[in-house]
Parts: sequence; C-alpha cells; structure tokens
Amino acid sequence: MYTIQTLNKISLKGLELFPRDNYEIATEISNPDAVLVRSYNMLEMDFSKNLKAIARAGAGVNNIPVDKCTEKGIVVFNTPGANANAVKELVLASLFLSSRKVYKGISWAQSLKGKGDEVAQLVEKGKSQFAGPEIKGKKLGVIGLGAIGVMVANDAVSLGMEVIGYDPFISIDSAWELSSSVEKAMSLDHLISTCDYITIHVPYSSKTSGMINKDKFDMMKKGVRLLNFARGGLVVNKDLLEAIDNGTVACYVTDFPEDELLGNDNIITLPHLGASTPESEENCAVMAASQLRDFLEFGNIKNS
Ligand code: MLT
Repeated sequence: MYTIQTLNKISLKGLELFPRDNYEIATEISNPDAVLVRSYNMLEMDFSKNLKAIARAGAGVNNIPVDKCTEKGIVVFNTPGANANAVKELVLASLFLSSRKVYKGISWAQSLKGKGDEVAQLVEKGKSQFAGPEIKGKKLGVIGLGAIGVMVANDAVSLGMEVIGYDPFISIDSAWELSSSVEKAMSLDHLISTCDYITIHVPYSSKTSGMINKDKFDMMKKGVRLLNFARGGLVVNKDLLEAIDNGTVACYVTDFPEDELLGNDNIITLPHLGASTPESEENCAVMAASQLRDFLEFGNIKNS
C-alpha cells in the first residue's frame, strides 16, 4: 500500500489513476510515500522520513526545495507542456489587453449605470481615452522557447505579428516545432531593443532571477508592452516602476500579484490564472499521477 498526500486540490481524472486497493490518498497523511502538489509552498516544509517523490501538477518547481530533495534522494517531477495551451491562450489575450485598454473601458462603461438616456452620448464623448494600437504588424519578442514560448510565437505569427525569439539556455534551432517565420534573435539585447511587445517564458532560477532589470529597460523601445506569465522574480519591480514612470513601459501584464505593483494604472495583474482551465488542470493531474505511479511501482523516472 502506497500513501500519497495531496497538498492542493488535484483533478479527479488524475486521482482515478491510483487504484484504491493499492493507494491511500488524502490531504492529511502523516508519513506519505509521495506528495502531489500544485502551487502549495513546500520550501519550509519538514519532509516525512518515507517521502520518496514529489510530483508538481504544473511546470515551474520554485515552490519545491529541489536542492534539499536532491540531497535526500527525493525525486521531483513536474509536467512540462501539460498546461502550455492554457497559458498560451491567456498570453495571447493579454497581448490585446495590453494594447486596447479593454479592462478599463469595461469598468468605465459599468460606471455609467443609472445615467439613463445620456449613456450613448457619454460613451461617444468618453471612449477615446480607451483607444489603443492594433497588434498586427507589430514586433513581438518571445524570451524562452519551451512549450509555452513556442506556441505563443507560432500563434502570434498567425495574428500578423512579426515575431523574434530567443532562449538563454537552448539554441533556437533545437526549439521544437517553432515556425520558420519566427526570426532568431542574435542576442537577448537585440530582442529587447527592437520589440514593441515582449513576453517572458523562461523558468525562474538563480540564473534568471531579475533578468529584466534597469539595463534591459534602458534598451527597450518607448511604449513597449511587457508580459510576464513565467514568474514574478524574473523582473526587478523597482526598475519596472521607474520604466513605467519614464514612459518606456506602456503596460506590464503579470500573472503574479505583488503588493508594490497593485494599484498602478499601467499594470494589469492577474491572480496566477495562466494554467487555470479544467483542461489544463486535468492534463497536469494525469501527467503527474502517471509519473508517480510509474515511479512508485516500477522505479521509472520519466518527466513527460
Ligand atoms: C506552472 O508553473 O505551470 C503554473 O504555475 C501552474 C499553476 O498555475 O499551477
């Protein structure tokens, strides 16, 4: 009998992969063999002595103390690609959101409630404050060409954008299924300095922490729109706020709420919604559960 602790709500389709005569699965288990987790912060957690594996139903592993796990021989799995389509869809939506001031327009239109016959006239007078540019023909830089970055780059090409890609860790030629219409950036600085829109898709680590900082903001075109669906710590907030104040960044869309960024008119903050679709939650849960079963029952370590 294997025991599995779930630290977040995990889609049923994943849990169904564990036959109940062989597995006990619960939130409260004192000495689990394995843990299934989504975004629960495990960094300060004490590990049970039986713990052999942690599976994250998601791509990033920055909520798991990977070094400590390696020291203790605990295997860490993640589910790269399983939520890529969900994140990609929200990134594409955010390209439009960063341009068209839709969200401000919506709350302004709501505020006209009660104005009766004046509504149409007020709309005609006030709507110009919400105008914004089209994305067609504009240049998008994609930093990070894993599953999500590649999907975003390819779909942005079909939206009529000029797309340039860069990955700090892999050669662009090995980026799987990347459209031949995506230009290869000679360097990160080349991408940063030539784009109207920039979207970040690299994992967070000590190597990437703060990679978008004052040096990079100083290179950006005036009025650039920056999207971050990777992790908050990739961008230095103090430098970002300065770049917003001096007009370099027209809009920052982030999926990672941080106190100092809330309430800023040029920042759209989403509550970590990139992977929050039933389809992606199911894909991640099924992939994570299969990895755990394969490991516990056969000792296989396969991260896909
Ligand atoms: C990821 O790292 O893939 C996302 O953070 C997943 C999630 O929202 O749980």
